[in-house]
Amino acid sequence: MDPRDTDANKIPFDSHLSLTADEVLTTTRAVRRRLDLTRPVPRELIEEAVKIAQQAPTGRNQQQWDFIFIEDPATKARVADIWRQGLQSRAPDEHGMAPMPTRMSFGSSEWGKIRDSLGHLFWRLHEVPVLMIPVVRVAHRAEMTSTRGQAHNWGSVIPATWSFMLAARERGLGTAWTVGHLQYEREMADVLGIPYDNVVQVALTPIAYTIGTDFKPARKADPVSHIHWNRW
Ligand SMILES: Cc1cc2nc3c(=O)[nH]c(=O)nc-3n(C[C@H](O)[C@H](O)[C@H](O)COP(=O)(O)O)c2cc1C
Repeated sequence: MDPRDTDANKIPFDSHLSLTADEVLTTTRAVRRRLDLTRPVPRELIEEAVKIAQQAPTGRNQQQWDFIFIEDPATKARVADIWRQGLQSRAPDEHGMAPMPTRMSFGSSEWGKIRDSLGHLFWRLHEVPVLMIPVVRVAHRAEMTSTRGQAHNWGSVIPATWSFMLAARERGLGTAWTVGHLQYEREMADVLGIPYDNVVQVALTPIAYTIGTDFKPARKADPVSHIHWNRW
């Protein structure tokens, strides 16, 4: 018998919202305002979601990703400070690139909603019960300079991270993908003891129970606008 095929590896199905797969896929929103800052998140729930994330595809089936969960209040405070610095930064990154310009119109109601929601989280990030940073292990950072190397590495951590977020949603937990702190990735690595040369950070998400669980599908463009048959 495969040693991995034991009862310890079976996922217990309780504390679920009993959403269908399509409901999970269409209602997992970036939760910022509706994070419950008062309710502790049990580690067991997080461990269940990680077990689900392990089923995501990875290049060469190597599962070279890790998730760093931060619950310690003093560490969260330092992490939140770097995150805030990153969000506010207009400084160029380590390659001399300015922060990504947004393609959204700043005057649009869509941007207005995100800005208000982000503003809400901005000063409260350290109060969120758990912060999570997904990372991918690389032989060396030069791997990230080619399209193929990037596709291999990002593609080996982002599906697992999204699976984690979907599994969290199914368990009543909210998450939000953020990348602002990566402007200060090295500083974050120092705070968390991450070996910078071989471990690349991907995102930072808050994790908390959501206030209410009634999230809705968002309005999107006609799917036809994303579909190309046979050629571009
Ligand atoms: C690659 C990526 C980067 C993102 N960066 C941030 C970020 O830095 N801060 C933030 O608050 N949200 C960030 N988001 C969340 C998006 O703003 C959010 O997914 C989008 O507005 C749609 O909202 P919804 O997920 O609730 O439908 C990011 C999402 C992705 C996929």
